[in-house]
Amino acid sequence: MVTTAENFDVVVIGGGPGGYAAALYGAAAGLNIAMVEQDKVGGTCLHRGCIPAKELLETASVFRSIAGAGRFGISAGAPELDFSATIARKQQVIDQLHKGLSGLVKSRKITVLNGTGTLGPERTVTVTGADGDTAELAGDHVILAAGSVPRTIPGFEVDGSVILTSDEVFELSELPARVAVIGGGAIGCEFASMMADLGSEVTVLEALSQILPGVDKDIVGVVLKAFKGRKIDVRTGVKVEGHDLGDAGTTVRFGEGETLAVDAVIVSVGRRPYSDSLGLDGSGVKVDERGFVAVDEWCRTGEDGVWAVGDVIATPGLAHVGFAEAILVVRQILGEEAVPVDYAKVAWCIYCHPEVAFAGYSEETAREAGFEVVTSKHRWMGNSRALIVGDTEGMVKVIAEKEPDGTGGRILGVHMAGPWVTEQLGQAYLAVNWEATVDEVAHFIQPHPSLSENFGETIMTLTGRGLHG
Ligand code: NAI
Repeated sequence: MVTTAENFDVVVIGGGPGGYAAALYGAAAGLNIAMVEQDKVGGTCLHRGCIPAKELLETASVFRSIAGAGRFGISAGAPELDFSATIARKQQVIDQLHKGLSGLVKSRKITVLNGTGTLGPERTVTVTGADGDTAELAGDHVILAAGSVPRTIPGFEVDGSVILTSDEVFELSELPARVAVIGGGAIGCEFASMMADLGSEVTVLEALSQILPGVDKDIVGVVLKAFKGRKIDVRTGVKVEGHDLGDAGTTVRFGEGETLAVDAVIVSVGRRPYSDSLGLDGSGVKVDERGFVAVDEWCRTGEDGVWAVGDVIATPGLAHVGFAEAILVVRQILGEEAVPVDYAKVAWCIYCHPEVAFAGYSEETAREAGFEVVTSKHRWMGNSRALIVGDTEGMVKVIAEKEPDGTGGRILGVHMAGPWVTEQLGQAYLAVNWEATVDEVAHFIQPHPSLSENFGETIMTLTGRGLHG
């Protein structure tokens, strides 16, 4: 444990995307920063979240490509999976990124303290190491970025072998043959997709009437059809009652007396803010009934000079939202112009197969918000590059304000499912956030042949005149 009486410009509690972005961005502007992390710099995203999940999904993609190689006239035989090698590669990717991030933090002269940070009076922070040693820090500003942990459900005691959350899936040594995924959100759908592609028999048990809550219904329809084609059994509107452990695996009880025997259960019913150990009781920082640190649109807590960013506040639980909030806070600390995050228009990317990506209103939410809308949908089937890569499931859907002549005006939302849409969202995100009109965007050229043409064609149709569609 490093003991220091130094007064820092900023003390950051938490070294995940929210915390390390604040530290890196602040240090790049010359601020003297201390970052307190109880585990490893990189947080959930790098070690137990986005990065390992996408790495395993990439394994699934390679598996699918090899299984489908015959279509291209290539005989590669049936692919065989060595799951332990997959897990090892996942770890190599994490380790390399962790090394890079640690090097960056060091080169920016950020002081990293390994331990649990607790907020005290007057922007002091006590750091308690694993050995019980403590250190006291003081900052002109404190940024709370303690992140989140998986939520669990009563009766499903996480044991790391049969009952798992996302934390444990990444440590499995074998792929379970039969899996129940409880919760059909982003995490549930990514695991369901990955495991089904690699050969598991997967059932998704979702309490609501729709998987992927918040996603445009047409896009959800694409995912459901694709999942069905890959024999993923999606059961919506079902209540999970409990489970009975057997010699190997367990039997899940759900719905009206139904049962499902599986080797593993993945509980992916959301994440809860990890504000437990921040010592906020009695401070000016308010915590809501769900455990989120209360902030205003500037990420200010109830205590002067204390800010909060990332999953510990009730904003979309996305690493890139944490980055944006960190930048917002540091700019204010520096006295620079700052713009609050427009949460309704952030980029959402879900890396299941087919991928899902969107920004802005869905058709339903736009109508609910009172807009008169016009939409256009273009399937990948008519896109040359999609046919070339052999991945034609899905569509691009654009939702625009309706002009008096029936054409589209301002672009309200862009929702996509299909090949590499997570990489294609960028221009749609800019269009939505710049509040561009379809005419403005239609003026710009898309490369041919490319997947991104499908966005261009969808936009062009809304001007009242299309090219191919
Ligand atoms: P989520 O809140 O997105 O979805 C959880 C799902 O579980 C919901 O559909 C909910 O109705 C269902 N559910 C809740 N209790 C249930 C029960 N007892 N039985 C059956 N279903 C139940 O949470 P998820 O997927 O765990 O993700 C957590 C966070 O991580 C989210 O904030 C998400 O934004 C973020 N994330 C984002 C990813 C991405 O953008 N690619 C990937 C993974 C996570």
